[in-house]
Amino acid sequence: MQSLTIARSLLTRPPIHFTRALSTTVSRAQAVPAEKPVQLKEFKIYRWNPDEPAKKPILQSYTLDLNQTGPMVLDALIKIKNEIDPTLTFRRSCREGICGSCAMNIDGQNTLACLCRIDRKEGKDTKIYPLPHMYIVKDLVPDLTLFYKQYKSIQPWLQNDNPPAQGEFLQSPEDRKKLDGLYECILCACCSTSCPSYWWNQDEYLGPATLMQAYRWIADSRDAYGAERKEKLQNEMSLYRCHTIFNCSRTCPKGLNPAAAIAKIKLELAAE
Ligand code: SF4
Ligand code: SF4
Ligand code: FES
Repeated sequence: MQSLTIARSLLTRPPIHFTRALSTTVSRAQAVPAEKPVQLKEFKIYRWNPDEPAKKPILQSYTLDLNQTGPMVLDALIKIKNEIDPTLTFRRSCREGICGSCAMNIDGQNTLACLCRIDRKEGKDTKIYPLPHMYIVKDLVPDLTLFYKQYKSIQPWLQNDNPPAQGEFLQSPEDRKKLDGLYECILCACCSTSCPSYWWNQDEYLGPATLMQAYRWIADSRDAYGAERKEKLQNEMSLYRCHTIFNCSRTCPKGLNPAAAIAKIKLELAAE
């Protein structure tokens, strides 16, 4: 009988957690924010189609509501491609500044679209071009064949004919520190394509990205081919077309300093 009474009282009394859940739902319903106003912004984007080679490139205009778009320029490009114009062509992968594939020229600056915030100033359009002074595959996609060929030419891997008998190559913390600011390069090509010397001599001048990677291996205490690496750069064009203008370091979206790395190679060559 007693247990029957307890069971009845449990059935008639709402459980505490139920009451709490109800009040949370009510207060949440009251807190629903008012819908954000429409904030239109124009994006002017470079278009060129290799299937219509006779047609000159154009700047095509697209308008988005910024309050329905993510905060980065890459978000805007993806929204345009998904919802307005599936023919718009660009590279992207990681959307977090790691893969280097979304490099392009945004409002006059070479940078990564995924790390570049949309300028929300009212009435201000955003102009997007491919990386400058490159052959274009389509729209915002530059042809990076030569860039990668140059990177390959510096043999970007550890070379040492006397590996340790056991285990890994060891390196002191001081020697490891010498690689900071070099190994983080994601090969986005923003620096090389902002370099006037590279614009005019890219068939022979290696450019800041490749040269910084050349120095990354010269500076590595585990690598035994530093002399050979430097010897390859000891000519009029590969390295010495750098005139220390620093456009490369100013534009690097990862905050690296390729101009300083190039200066260090020059110093080492001068000291020999
Ligand atoms: S140095 Fe900077 S700009 Fe140049 S390729 Fe590397 S990450 Fe890109
Ligand atoms: S510092 Fe050298 S590599 Fe960098 S932009 Fe100037 S010329 Fe090019
Ligand atoms: S998408 Fe990978 S760096 Fe921008």
